[in-house]
Amino acid sequence: MKKIFNFSAGPSMLPKTVLIKVKNELFNWNNTNVSIMEISHRNKKFLNLIETMKQDLRDLLYIPKNYNIMFLQGGARTQFSSIPINLINKISETADYIDSGYWGKYAAYEAKKYCIVNLINVIYKEKLKKSVFPMKSWKISKNSKYVHYCPNETIDGIAINETPNFTDKLIIGDFSSTLLSKPIDINKFGIIYASSQKNIGTSGMTVFIFRNDLIFNNNKNIPSCLNYRMLYKYNSLFNTPPIFNWYVSSLVLKWIKSKGGLLKFNEINQKKSKLIYKAIDKSNFYYNNIDNLNRSDMNVIFYLPNKKLNNLFLKLSQSYGLLFLKGHRVAGGIRASLYNAMPISGVKKLIKFMKYFEKRYG
Ligand SMILES: Cc1ncc(COP(=O)(O)O)c(C=O)c1O
Repeated sequence: MKKIFNFSAGPSMLPKTVLIKVKNELFNWNNTNVSIMEISHRNKKFLNLIETMKQDLRDLLYIPKNYNIMFLQGGARTQFSSIPINLINKISETADYIDSGYWGKYAAYEAKKYCIVNLINVIYKEKLKKSVFPMKSWKISKNSKYVHYCPNETIDGIAINETPNFTDKLIIGDFSSTLLSKPIDINKFGIIYASSQKNIGTSGMTVFIFRNDLIFNNNKNIPSCLNYRMLYKYNSLFNTPPIFNWYVSSLVLKWIKSKGGLLKFNEINQKKSKLIYKAIDKSNFYYNNIDNLNRSDMNVIFYLPNKKLNNLFLKLSQSYGLLFLKGHRVAGGIRASLYNAMPISGVKKLIKFMKYFEKRYG
């Protein structure tokens, strides 16, 4: 059978060993004689799974003791609203939102409903290449309650690799497409959140890591399902969680550990993206419009010289076993998402195909 590689931006490729484990224990999870999908979220074994998942996240990310973890619902987009709802007290308060692409801007769009948003564009273009201004030049407002940014813009293929170092500012990061792909200095953040359908598991869960001293709003008008105070009090089990998703995520965390953790994945992820960027830069056919310093390791975007060739590229690549390479409608072109589960062999196969396509149609 042809080897298939899934380059989807999310829901995305899962490790094969995880899928096999899911298959093998589908009818009898953890000696319960029933499927994980039939287990109550109050079941002792499932409660154990939650605690193990938290510990695995702590071990992988070196989460300090003064931080806690919640597993939330509604994806990262829900956090775009619940963050200001929980952190802002009055509509006259200000929050800084970094505009580095689609998701950064979207988070700001939602926040505007609850506070004054200081939207800070950090992208500039030089010789047709997009770059991110260095953090020290970002125009953070003195009186803002927090600074929100997205270190990896999944759609635009832009990464911000600098670690934030703004004194006395609460930093919030949407790490949806980069959490668990490399180590992070958690101490620099007040809140880190990420939806799960990239490096963590399947869609339906949002990992939410927060500093304990952030006393969340006591406002009684916050809907309970969005109220961080409430969600924490109930150990993320205020309402029934997507059991299956949490279970898959727990297996992925174990898989990441077994493969050597985040330093190892960072090394492999950089190797993978470098291979593709090198192939793009060497060719006179493909191009990428992002400066080397801000190229994403997770989502590699590239363009063909003629838009009309896109569909043919996608059709042929699919028949070759390279799936879901279509760029997001906003960015166009081709997008290869290279999350942890994508092996180097998948990247090499894509490069081989790119070379063939260029030779044949270039
Ligand atoms: C960086 C980033 N933020 C937010 C989202 C939205 O996530 P969700 O669809 O889980 O709400 C995505 C989805 O791809 C993303 O990549």
